[in-house]
Amino acid sequence: MKICDAQGWRRHVRLLSPFLAAACCLSGFFLLSALSQTSAAGQADLSGYWVLRTPRGDGTYRDTYLNLKQSGDSLTGAIVGFGPRAIPIGGTFTDGKVHLASLPPAASSPAAARGFSFFRMAYDGVYQDGKLKLQTENFRHQIQQGIAERTTRGATLPPAPPPLPALRDLPDNGLARTPPMGWNSWNKFAGKVDDATVRSMADAMVSSGMSKLGYVYINIDDTWEGGRDAEGNIVPNKKFPNMKALADYVHSKGLKIGIYSSPGPKTCAGYEGSFGHEMQDARTYASWGIDYLKYDLCSAGGIYKTSPEVLQALYQKMGQALQESGRPIVFSLCEYGDADVWKWGAKAGGNLWRTTGDIQDNWARMDKIGFSQLDIAGYARPGHWNDPDMLEVGNGGMNADEYRTHMSLWSLLSAPLIAGNDLRSMTEETKSILMNAEVIAIDQDPAAKPVKLLSKQGDIEILWRPLADGSVAVGIFNRGEDSATGSFSWSSLKFGSSLKFGSSLNLGTPSGGLLARDLWKHQEIPVTGDRFSAVVPRHGVVLLRISAASHGARE
Ligand code: GLA
Repeated sequence: MKICDAQGWRRHVRLLSPFLAAACCLSGFFLLSALSQTSAAGQADLSGYWVLRTPRGDGTYRDTYLNLKQSGDSLTGAIVGFGPRAIPIGGTFTDGKVHLASLPPAASSPAAARGFSFFRMAYDGVYQDGKLKLQTENFRHQIQQGIAERTTRGATLPPAPPPLPALRDLPDNGLARTPPMGWNSWNKFAGKVDDATVRSMADAMVSSGMSKLGYVYINIDDTWEGGRDAEGNIVPNKKFPNMKALADYVHSKGLKIGIYSSPGPKTCAGYEGSFGHEMQDARTYASWGIDYLKYDLCSAGGIYKTSPEVLQALYQKMGQALQESGRPIVFSLCEYGDADVWKWGAKAGGNLWRTTGDIQDNWARMDKIGFSQLDIAGYARPGHWNDPDMLEVGNGGMNADEYRTHMSLWSLLSAPLIAGNDLRSMTEETKSILMNAEVIAIDQDPAAKPVKLLSKQGDIEILWRPLADGSVAVGIFNRGEDSATGSFSWSSLKFGSSLKFGSSLNLGTPSGGLLARDLWKHQEIPVTGDRFSAVVPRHGVVLLRISAASHGARE
């Protein structure tokens, strides 16, 4: 403990009081001021490590570690801790009043701009009785009050990485034969999710008709965690009074329930992670009746090396724990696509793996994430899926054309369809997008063949995918800012030898014997001439399913 804070000062004053009495006679104020490490202006020196504890209102606290350096009235330093990097911070300390703001690094790309590290945090308050009473405006513009006390550098350091299991290929758990479909709390509710919200979302999943279309998982994302009991068992926070009862409720609706954790000590929202408790947590989830786990790297990224081998071992540890938990649990890997997770995710027991940073409810981000997936499409296969993140359909940041593009693209990619909106208050338009059975059928196609680029014409990109019944899905996407015409020749679809589809068909003319259907207009379209061509609105899509007439792919 340095003697520059008030508590330390008082302790030292107690120890040194006999000397102080004499010293005061000799040099009075000057020595006292040196011992208290006050500045020339009479202020304390805030230099050193602090932990700011901010109550979240759910019985838990967010701990933020600050390393401050004071020079005159000016403060510099960093927010430090379990994250992979320190975030620079700067501000002032004047007349007992503290102002600090984080200076987040510029994200190299929107894809990199994920999480807390890239948001500017402001801290304002006073220094009193050796503590900093600070008010924080977090990145969701919520005001939170907390108290910072001095701590040591040691408390800010990540724990040493424990040994990881030797790599081995875990057996396939037999789950998620088609891409998982459901709902997740994060995109709409983030830290505001609670028991009542989850129950009402399960109700809405059924009453809206979504469950009949295959949406079955109700997934609780980050911020449900409380801490650990005396035996080290994970317990939920006040927002979730009884996880087992909640799981029973969701099951009573014919649905399944998912939960969230991290291989690190802290989740991305700073809640309790599974670090060192992997097997124990897997057993707890099984005892509650959990059916799906999203396992998010978060603070583990600051503890372990993020090489492919280490990440695989880290996820294998939980994958194995889930497989030994006695309950079938879908394992969803979330490490943002680092270290080519699509190459080893299945070996670690993964049923799906995030391939990108976080989605946002805007065109630029969705477009960037969605169209970055083509090269790895071949890694998706029954039981093991590329996950370009959850859906934003219905959250309000994109228009209907853009949401139709989102849904069409995710379906062509065989991506998990995990809705992220409020299912209780969907507009008819939102329902028509999320609940388009013909588009869902593309996503859930049992053949799970990779989507391919058919052609690129300026801002138009045409993707296609052969389907299990011999038909073909074609998406004509307009990524540009103005409406544009896209076209392809019927013969370019290569019914026949290269894909062994329709090889017995005598197509005669290029379009002969074909049936085509527009999956957003829900109508057959004429198949004539050599080419199909359509005007596609800005950011929009025309999605077709084309089959050979004799196959009768469309009943
Ligand atoms: C990360 C994940 C998100 C969400 C949050 C929760 O950012 O990528 O999907 O789970 O953590 O804190």
